Amino acid sequence: MKKFSPLSKDFPHLLLGGDYNPEQWLDSPEILAADMELMKEADCNEMSMGIFSWDSLEPEEGVFQFDWLDERMDSIYKNGGRVILATPSAARPRWLAEKYPEVMYAPRPDRRHLFAKRQNQCLRSPVYQEKVRIIDEMLAKRYANHPALIAWHLSNEYYGRDCRCQTCRLQFREWLRRRYDNDLKKLNHAWWTPNWSRQVQSFDQIEPPENGYGEVMIPGMNLDWKRFCSDTVYDFVKLERDAVKKYSDKPVTTNCMNFFERYDHRKVATLLDFYSNDTYPTWWEGLSDDVVARYACFSALCRGMMDGKPFIQMESAPGINMAHNNFRMLKSTQLQIFEAMLFLAHGSDSVLYFQWRKGRGGCEKYHGAVVDHYGKTDNRVFQAVKTIGGMMKNMDGVVGTTICADVAIVSDYETRWAINGELEYNKDRNGYQAMTEGSFAALFKQNVAADVIGYGADFSKYKFLILPPPYMMTPALAKKIKTYVQNGGRVVSFYMAGMVDENDLTHLGGAPGCGLRELFGLRIDEMTCYDISIGKCGYENAVTYGGITYPARKHAEIPVLEGAKALGSYQKDFFAGTAALTQAAYGKGQAYYVAFQPEQSFLDAFFTDVLQAAGIQGIRAVRGDGHIRVSCREGDGERYYFVFNTSETETQSVILEEPMTDLLTGAKVTAKTSLPPLGVAVFQA
Ligand code: GLA
Repeated sequence: MKKFSPLSKDFPHLLLGGDYNPEQWLDSPEILAADMELMKEADCNEMSMGIFSWDSLEPEEGVFQFDWLDERMDSIYKNGGRVILATPSAARPRWLAEKYPEVMYAPRPDRRHLFAKRQNQCLRSPVYQEKVRIIDEMLAKRYANHPALIAWHLSNEYYGRDCRCQTCRLQFREWLRRRYDNDLKKLNHAWWTPNWSRQVQSFDQIEPPENGYGEVMIPGMNLDWKRFCSDTVYDFVKLERDAVKKYSDKPVTTNCMNFFERYDHRKVATLLDFYSNDTYPTWWEGLSDDVVARYACFSALCRGMMDGKPFIQMESAPGINMAHNNFRMLKSTQLQIFEAMLFLAHGSDSVLYFQWRKGRGGCEKYHGAVVDHYGKTDNRVFQAVKTIGGMMKNMDGVVGTTICADVAIVSDYETRWAINGELEYNKDRNGYQAMTEGSFAALFKQNVAADVIGYGADFSKYKFLILPPPYMMTPALAKKIKTYVQNGGRVVSFYMAGMVDENDLTHLGGAPGCGLRELFGLRIDEMTCYDISIGKCGYENAVTYGGITYPARKHAEIPVLEGAKALGSYQKDFFAGTAALTQAAYGKGQAYYVAFQPEQSFLDAFFTDVLQAAGIQGIRAVRGDGHIRVSCREGDGERYYFVFNTSETETQSVILEEPMTDLLTGAKVTAKTSLPPLGVAVFQA
């Protein structure tokens, strides 16, 4: 595995820093001067600037002022820092919305947002696109060769708003014309419109789905609308990328959002030079392996966006997070360090924060920041960040290394849209993600690395594939999965596999469709969905596997076996005793089918067994007591082991198979060591 540095080769360091908003302090030169001193003091080396600065950069249409940004770029560079410079399109200036009201988002054709907040523009508005292109090109031209610049940050968390303004309505129709070759017969078939007498006679009759006075009861149409909205983001990212690339050859990214499903992040990733992501671990659920695994899984998703390459963790919170949930929990210093190292352990080349300094006003003034309103360095959060900075200074070797995983979880946006949009059976809108994260967590507890990849990835480099409900299936994908197993791969599929095609039309002839019955050696005869608010209806099932009975509280289907053997069976109802979990040999490989929606306890037991059967072991070179979790980043022949004690109360021992250097202390560690509660170590082999 070769190292790949997401950022320019001339700054080969892990990045520490984050969103810096000097435009809020332009009348306080003493604060701006202090920022530079504090940046050095905290061992921070990066500032993300310009993210919401449009009205400070272009206060009137066509009138630009860059002097303050020039000065900040120069100062940061002089003080040893680097800049990831944003395009400001996430928040438009007031003059723009006033003069061209059509740039604002319209949830309904007759109702537009007033100028307010952010991320509520119409990304298809020609005026908006033109104004964004102009400011982006101005920035790119001006800063392309600035020595502080290391990358471009396009906009901020593209939100994928489903705008229904006149422009979007018309463009949706055009988009449908292209998708269905201008052939209404094709569209009517895909949307199954004779159902409830809803046949379309002209593309001009089509309105976007709207839950109020409009249509939302045609799943195929809903799916196309999601695709259209996702393509809207894609096209806009492309517009911004092209504007910047016209003048600058610095790498381009945009900050994505874990499993946020409003747009296909994987498609957008094809436009980027490196992937970056915002994650705000809340920790309020308590610290368990499952919770830690969830955040590691987000990182696995980011790596999987770019074929395993490291990514940039663009935002997280230093201290308290005031924005993303209602429970504002303080993080201990140790937890702050744990969180930062967790990002690095799973493939990030940075720990970047929102925000560098707390503003005096605005709705984020109490959101965690490296620099508090207090303004000094002797407060806990500043010191925690400084400690993290000190640790990261010794870890330059980690830059560009990645994780070599034997297992991949295949998570697809369109499949998720389809199964989550399923109107009748799937009442649990979280099942797809729960199976993704739950499978990851089961492996994580065995110290087995997994990537989260898309259907387009090369399956052959993995020994094991996990398919969260692969509800939507095409012949080409089914062939790819079958070939993989035929050649010796192992696959675990969750329920509702291969039920529909790309238009959400069911496959005829028995599910799983597209020839997957042959692979799994079964046919799904019937399925049932239990009430997700269990307790109210009390109707649920249970599955016995390996002598233990596990709950099946959400979804269960009854397979008819056509060659597969049962590994577990239902315990209740008229179908008690029938298979709930199966295994079938196919070619040189094995195909497992989980016919119900399990909970974590089942996933932990089941994956322990299937990994063992596949001969996949957790990391051995560094291992330890029950709460020790290890990941390994490697590249150019170097190996770095990140070791975590996930217990909040117990010290855990760690065994090393060969002497290694502890990068955080510089000490040589030979055979055995220990980690205190929430302790972290990074060993170089
Ligand atoms: C998001 C945004 C930031 C900021 C943070 C607060 O992730 O990108 O601008 O609002 O939330 O947590």
